[in-house]
Amino acid sequence: MSALAGKTLLVVVGGGIAAFKSALVVRELQRRGARVEVVLTEAATRFVTPVTFAAITGRKAHVDLWDASFPGELHVQLTDAADGVLVVPATADFLAKMAHGLGDDLGSVCLLAARGPVLVAPAMHPRMWSNPATVQNVATLRARGVAVCGPVDGPLASGASGMGRMVEPEPLVDALEACFTPQDLAGLRVLITAGGTHEALDPVRFLGNRSSGKMGYALAERAQRRGAAVTLVSGPVSLAPPADVTVVRVRSAVEMFDSVSNHYPAADVVVMAAAVADYRPAEVSPQKLKKTGEGVPAVTLVRNPDILASLGARRGAARHPTLVGFAVETENLVANARDKLARKGCDLIVANRAEDGFEGDSNVAVLVSPEGDLPVGALSKRALADRIFDHVVGLARPGV
Ligand code: C5P
Repeated sequence: MSALAGKTLLVVVGGGIAAFKSALVVRELQRRGARVEVVLTEAATRFVTPVTFAAITGRKAHVDLWDASFPGELHVQLTDAADGVLVVPATADFLAKMAHGLGDDLGSVCLLAARGPVLVAPAMHPRMWSNPATVQNVATLRARGVAVCGPVDGPLASGASGMGRMVEPEPLVDALEACFTPQDLAGLRVLITAGGTHEALDPVRFLGNRSSGKMGYALAERAQRRGAAVTLVSGPVSLAPPADVTVVRVRSAVEMFDSVSNHYPAADVVVMAAAVADYRPAEVSPQKLKKTGEGVPAVTLVRNPDILASLGARRGAARHPTLVGFAVETENLVANARDKLARKGCDLIVANRAEDGFEGDSNVAVLVSPEGDLPVGALSKRALADRIFDHVVGLARPGV
């Protein structure tokens, strides 16, 4: 569930051309379960109308501080109800007003009366963004705890290109969600593996498995959002890496073993979500294998190192870092997972059936630990990642 679910958010729409994107931001906030109130500056109404937002939210969008049709003090009522405020787009003028505590219209007065997190999404011409006055105003706001998301480098409405483009609605709402996400993994260094491995037969062929990497990538994203410093060792997958995560790409189990071994000394938590191949071909042909006659080639396999078991043995009695493994089973789910918990010396095994977990966006898992078995039911991989870290947060210790 999104950290924005059930929250009331006040969106202040500033008067820049990026205002047209603010309607999409409101839609995205609502999609994540937030209730949204909208205030527009006079200048914003030159680009978008209050009717746009009233249609999206089902509530009147406000412009006028002196709205006589509204009983009581509008800015106090709006900010009493709001858990946080998003300014989108934040113009140079609006940032200046915020930095100087001015309140000459409904939007700026709301910012003075606001409680909870405030996030601004600047958008302006690059010369305005780099103007020393704007630079100083933004620094002042940051120092006061205002979150600043963007701008980014890219094409601008003027036809020019540069640092001044507003962040797109989805990453912007992600940034706001982060403001409401408890930073309970802050100070922890989390090492996560994801995806399957490719065990080469020749330069073009490999033995592999169906792992999509979605679980490991969801874990990396959630750990980062909850404040951890995350390193993701990824097998070959076709997923975009989560923002602000260090990604190390590997192909084979041996490469994954080497990479995990290198990063392990600096980790407080290791989550082995990768589906690591247990075996690899004993020989890798340097040339592409040819079909010869009617015969079928025999492939001899040798064992790969068990990465998780090696970490379990290596950490010994110190039980640092916290170790989490996965068990994909087709039968005797919990019994096999409990056996793995002991054999690999870890703190938690996330057990799931092959038919539930592979490739899709959701999973049905049981969290198997020395304390017992906790079935968590059907969850999105993102939600399951959160449940796993809810368990880990009680065990992990930073920097031992
Ligand atoms: O023994 P099994 O492969 O079922 O164990 C699964 C768990 O062990 C997963 O967490 C997986 O990442 C890890 N593993 C490993 N190295 C291997 C095989 C599995 O770390 N060679």
